[in-house]
Amino acid sequence: MTIPADLEKRFAEREGQLLNDLFDFLRIPSVSARSEHNADTARAAKWLHDRFAKMGFAVETCPTPGHPVVLAEWRKAKGAPTYLVYGHYDVQPPEPLNLWTTPAFEPTVRDGKLFARGSVDDKGQLFAHVAALEVFLEVRGTLPVNIIVLAEGEEEVGSENLAPFIEKHKQRLACEGVVISDSSMFAPGIPSILSSLRGLAYFQIDVRGPASDLHSGSYGGAVVNPAMALARILATMHDANGKIMIDGFYDDVLPFPPAVIDGMRKLPFDEEHFRQEVGASSLGGEPQFTVLEKLWTRPTCEVNGLLSGYTGEGAKTVLPGVSMAKVSCRLVPKQEPAKIEALMKAHVAKVAPKGVAVTVTHLHGGKPWRADLEGPLFEAAKRALHAAFGRNPEVTGEGGSIPVVGDFERILGVPVLLMGFGLPGENAHAPDEWMSVENFNKGMRAIADLFEELGAKR
Ligand code: BES
Ligand code: ZN
Repeated sequence: MTIPADLEKRFAEREGQLLNDLFDFLRIPSVSARSEHNADTARAAKWLHDRFAKMGFAVETCPTPGHPVVLAEWRKAKGAPTYLVYGHYDVQPPEPLNLWTTPAFEPTVRDGKLFARGSVDDKGQLFAHVAALEVFLEVRGTLPVNIIVLAEGEEEVGSENLAPFIEKHKQRLACEGVVISDSSMFAPGIPSILSSLRGLAYFQIDVRGPASDLHSGSYGGAVVNPAMALARILATMHDANGKIMIDGFYDDVLPFPPAVIDGMRKLPFDEEHFRQEVGASSLGGEPQFTVLEKLWTRPTCEVNGLLSGYTGEGAKTVLPGVSMAKVSCRLVPKQEPAKIEALMKAHVAKVAPKGVAVTVTHLHGGKPWRADLEGPLFEAAKRALHAAFGRNPEVTGEGGSIPVVGDFERILGVPVLLMGFGLPGENAHAPDEWMSVENFNKGMRAIADLFEELGAKR
């Protein structure tokens, strides 16, 4: 199995230039979390809009209460099925800037890796779809299927406005299936199809003590310290074996089918290599599960950030007036973010010490997702990945979240294919984020071949 010769020829001619075009997209600092970047985020949407317009797509930049959705449609394949491609043009903040080898928004290739914020998450993977469609249209003058591309600018801040958007445009977005490249392959050379994603429930915990910071000598010992109170609250969330101690937390956890767990155990995964890669002295978590089971099939409760008191140079004897933690739970089927929020609030209220006021604020959430990977979309994807990468894909799980995946399935009633081209160690959300240039090149070939396969099925 290889990709059609006419497409391969054009990909070979165009791939260097397409990579350069991706550089332009990556230079736009579309950081959705930061309002000072709103103009840049809008510029990234416009960049996509203009590209699709040039390709002959009917394209619209649709406003939302947050960043706009770019909706590009090509519907000239009469009688052929319609597929929806989803991706996001927003990126995570680049900080800490001093840890980047080359600046976050100055794309650079070193050792076959394209370094830039958004290279793999998700501009590079989204652009692989754009490039595949563009090459297809250049070579054939037509596409084998009808295509809707939906690119959002709020994935990295929780996609709060996207489900209402899909709901509102349900008729227009009707399709046979959704295709997403916003995830990673299991290992270099091993293409992968995701069978699950974890969900998310994200909170901020604020602890307020005395009316202001106090002298820790004049007041310490007689006034409850909000930093200590927060530490006590956080320490109640797990037992010594990593089990989450929030009442009812595991009630809705649906065990993964034994066949799926079996599949995970057969994947070539070296836990010691994983430990070395993360640079930790030993690994943690529930001892009865393998690392892959911990990452893909178990829920978590993690502190993402902590703030209180004096953190500058040297020492300051102060009893802080407030403390704050960002805490998020990764969820697995069938845990519901809203229910986890209620359980978290009840738990914190129960364990909060007297003398401080504690509030738990919900920041955002998304449902977990699991697929059975049956049907023509997945069969076509297996063949397309084989054609581009020279081997069958592995079925893998994922510990991260893409909140909209479950919404697509629920609202549009169609299967979602997650076929990503990232790699372990790609530093998504961290300094020196990179995408493998080889995966970008093979990824766009796989995408083109996928649409060819799906068109041939009519
Ligand atoms: N592309 C990621 C999701 C992902 C992460 C897939 C790791 C495969 C491997 C996505 O952009 C992301 O970061 N999602 C957020 C969602 C959150 C902000 C609601 C996540 O998982 O933290
Ligand atoms: Zn991300």
